[in-house]
Order: sequence, then structure tokens, then C-alpha cells
Amino acid sequence: MLDVNGTREAHLQAFQQAPALFSAPGRVNIIGEHTDYAEGFVMPAAIDFETIAAISPRTDGQVVIASQNFNETVTHSLQQLPEKARHHWSDYPLGVLWALREKGIDVPAFSLTLKGDVPLGAGLSSSASVEVATISALLSLTGKEIPLPEMAQLCRRAENVYVGASTGIMDQFIACCGKENHALLLDCRSLDYKLAPIPANIAIVISNTMVKHSHAGGEYNTRRAEVEEGTRILHAHRPEIKFLRDATVDDLAKWGSEMPPDVLKRTRHVITEDDRTVAAAAALEAGDLKTLGRLMYEAHASYRDDFEGSCPEADILVDLASKEAGVIGARLTGGGFGGCTVNLVEEAHATTFIENLRKGYHAATGISADIYRCHASDGVHRIAE
Ligand code: GLA
Repeated sequence: MLDVNGTREAHLQAFQQAPALFSAPGRVNIIGEHTDYAEGFVMPAAIDFETIAAISPRTDGQVVIASQNFNETVTHSLQQLPEKARHHWSDYPLGVLWALREKGIDVPAFSLTLKGDVPLGAGLSSSASVEVATISALLSLTGKEIPLPEMAQLCRRAENVYVGASTGIMDQFIACCGKENHALLLDCRSLDYKLAPIPANIAIVISNTMVKHSHAGGEYNTRRAEVEEGTRILHAHRPEIKFLRDATVDDLAKWGSEMPPDVLKRTRHVITEDDRTVAAAAALEAGDLKTLGRLMYEAHASYRDDFEGSCPEADILVDLASKEAGVIGARLTGGGFGGCTVNLVEEAHATTFIENLRKGYHAATGISADIYRCHASDGVHRIAE
């Protein structure tokens, strides 16, 4: 839990103004990986890690952004904001400011203090939580209200265009629309969504491989390009396939042989993952936890073998989890190439599970994993005075 008063005080001390405070969560994705930018389905939950944004207006035309995590403050004139990302933590809040201005929303000069406890580079969407907390804070100074799905889209645009990571809509959307004790099945094409309650006797345990990743550049963008190549090949045969959301395993059986082997594998992952995600949501809704768990393991195997987005450490965590009592399912969550695994565990077994997983992982890798017992949480909100 973050110390909200600490952030309020720090802001007051630095800027001599009492701030308004906003909180936006990180997320864990239960199933549906690398399907969002293919306009498919995902089923994340917001979690009780968050970013707090404290904001107050200024009268000197400056934009001053302080990060309590990095212990650093950046200052820019509102008239002369950096046009491009600089590979710096401030890219995310500045990207959001850029996206609002691009949309024609004038943001007055401000002081912003950011503090977060979403582990960085761990696949739990620290960046989306910064973006969404920031956009709510900035909007509060404009007197404008934007519907939550549109806020998510603006934050995604900040990340895609300004920061330069070609991510989909999942992280920003769940940070906006998450609901306590629920997972959210999102149709990334229409942005329609359904909330599914997570049974009270199920614990969400997140285990961190401690292997870090970054989306800006690197493997994420390469994979995305491969998925797009697969889409183009199928589209040439069936023009109604605009995104892999529109394709089926039959299409792959017919035309997959025209794809380079890696492209075929990435494409197969996305198409089958979409099917698994829809089935998993139905299983959760029906209380069929056995099917949900099986689909999570299948999703992990596909992420590992077809998408080649896992890492040996995540495979070890999933394998260890699968042998423990009371475990419903486990898989690598998030953008991949490191980060965390998500485990759904019967509450009664959760404590022993965590102990055994920690020991087993250390014995196998020499790494001490951070393991978090999380709760599905609400999306962005203003923190009461
Ligand atoms: C990252 C991206 C998301 C999504 C996942 C993979 O978290 O930000 O848009 O593509 O990876 O499912």
C-alpha cells in the first residue's frame, strides 16, 4: 500500500499547493496475450499495485513533474515541450500531455508528483498505470470529462506514438475500467466488455521471475511485426481478414505454408489464444475452474513454443506451480521475455503454495523471486481528501 499522505505532503512541500490526488492500478492478465493489437480478446484484472498522481495548477507557464520513485524533477515550458521521447521516466506523463493537446484539449501549467509501487519492467503495466493516473490528474485541471474507454485510447496513443512502444489497448483499458474482485473480458475491437467475478476462495498469486523486460524497442515490436506479416498473408487470400481476430485455424491450415516458419508460429499463437480467451471467460463465468486452469496452461505452452515470448525462468515457475496442491492454473502474464507468472490458487493452499514456489524457484535458479498475493481492484479513481 502506498503512503498517500506522504505523497500529498511531498507535493505540498515542493510546490506550496495542496494537490488533488488520483490513483490508477497495475494489472495482471489472466489470459489473452498478444491478442489485443490483433483486435482480439483479453481477460485481465486490475491489481492492488498503483500509481498515485498528485496535481496542482501553476501560474508561471511551466510543467513541473516530480517522480518520488526516481527522486528527480523535470521542468519544461508549456510552450516548448519535448516533441519526442527521451528514454526517460518522464516520457510517459509527457506523452499523455502530448496526446491530450493533440486531441485539442488545452492543459494549463501544472505541478505533478508521481509515486508508484507497480514493479517496473515486470509485466504488470507500470507504464499504463502512470499514464492513466496522469491523464485523470491533467483532466481535472481542464474541467473536461472524457469517458473511460476514450481515456484509455488516448493513453495508448501516448505510448504508441510518443513513447514508441507498439502496445495494444489492454493495459490502459483495465487501468481505467477494472473492478474490485472481477476479471474483465475485453473485446479489443469494439471495446465492449464483460466483468466476471473471481470466486472469493481463489487467490491471485503473482510470482516475479526478476528477469526484466522493456517494450520500447526490442522483442515486443519484432513479434508484433511478425504477427502483421502473418495477417498480410492471410488477408491476400481472404480480404475480410484485417486483423488476426478475423482469422481461424482453418485459414492457417490452408495458407500457413506460405509463411516463414516463425511467422506461422506467431500467427498460430494469436489465433488459438483468442479462442482460449473466449473459452476461459465462459469457464470462469460458469464456475468451471478446471477448464479455466487447463486453458491457462495451454496458453503458457503456446506463449512459450509458438510465440517464443517466455523465458526459462518463467517456464520453471509455471512448471513448479503445476505440481502444487490447490493450483487451478498458471502462466506467464504480460508482454513476455521476463516478468511475472500469474497463478490462480485455492485460498486454503495459498500460503503453502507461496512458500514452496519461493523455495523451489530458488533451488532451481538461485534467484529469490518476489511473490505477491494480489486482489482484483478498481480502476482509476480520485482519492478522497
Ligand atoms: C503488453 C502490452 C499489451 C499487450 C501485452 C501482451 O502488456 O502493453 O498491449 O500486448 O503486452 O498481451
